[in-house]
Amino acid sequence: MLCNLKEAARIAIAENSGLPAFNVFGYEDAAAVISAAERMNRPVVLMTNKVAVAHMGIPVLAGMLLEMARRSEVPTCVHLDHATELADIRQAVDSGYTSVMIDGSQLPFDENVAVTRAAVEIARPRGVSVEAEIGSVGYSDNADAKRRFTDPGEAERFAALTGVDALAVAVGTVHRMETQGVDLQFDLLRRIRQVVKIPLVIHGSTGVADRDLRRLIECGAVKINMGTTLRMVFGQTLREQIEENPKLFDRVEMYQKCMKAVEGKAIEKIKCL
Ligand code: G3H
Ligand code: ZN
Repeated sequence: MLCNLKEAARIAIAENSGLPAFNVFGYEDAAAVISAAERMNRPVVLMTNKVAVAHMGIPVLAGMLLEMARRSEVPTCVHLDHATELADIRQAVDSGYTSVMIDGSQLPFDENVAVTRAAVEIARPRGVSVEAEIGSVGYSDNADAKRRFTDPGEAERFAALTGVDALAVAVGTVHRMETQGVDLQFDLLRRIRQVVKIPLVIHGSTGVADRDLRRLIECGAVKINMGTTLRMVFGQTLREQIEENPKLFDRVEMYQKCMKAVEGKAIEKIKCL
């Protein structure tokens, strides 16, 4: 069943678990993630990022993912990830997305507040949840995106000034890690949790060791964003099949194994939460 982020987070919190949120890029990984969530009987968030949006466009993604979420047996949220433009927020809301992230993490504090408030004004009247980011998680493969730990006082002010439903914080993770073992600041996360009452979000969770995922929840995180880990599994499984049998050309045939592998990885991560 389709739900927004606020509802999905409420269910996860009530069940004392983290809320798994996965970046998906098409039908195959979305179906695999939903199947994993159904098998584990957990709420889940399907997220589309700039790459997916550039590839398919928001209305097409919305048409497919909303239909899949409605058919899902578990609460399923359809979320626009890392939007930097209000035009994209507007289009996602108009297309039926149930949650959006406005990412002003690269802006000065006041400008981040202003763009986030504008996103809340667009989304809230339509029942669409809003996530924003304070501090900056950064990217392993993009030095231009600053990395800055979240300051608890700043996070408290930001949440109060913007009225967002969820807040992404920077406590040591980095986007697009292909290995695990980032240096997590659990104490900082606890201090943020003490002053920010809305659900906290951890981005770049592929780089977090499986044993540390649960610790993030215990220190106050709710939504756990994972992307690269599924992309790697999908790509590796596709590559193995082509290398084993270079004559293969039917992609739907090859996708079956990819979907099984993605489902398996998603189950592994959901179990950790
Ligand atoms: O917003 C998306 C996530 O933060 C995914 O990050 O690909 O490093 O797991 P990741
Ligand atoms: Zn992210």
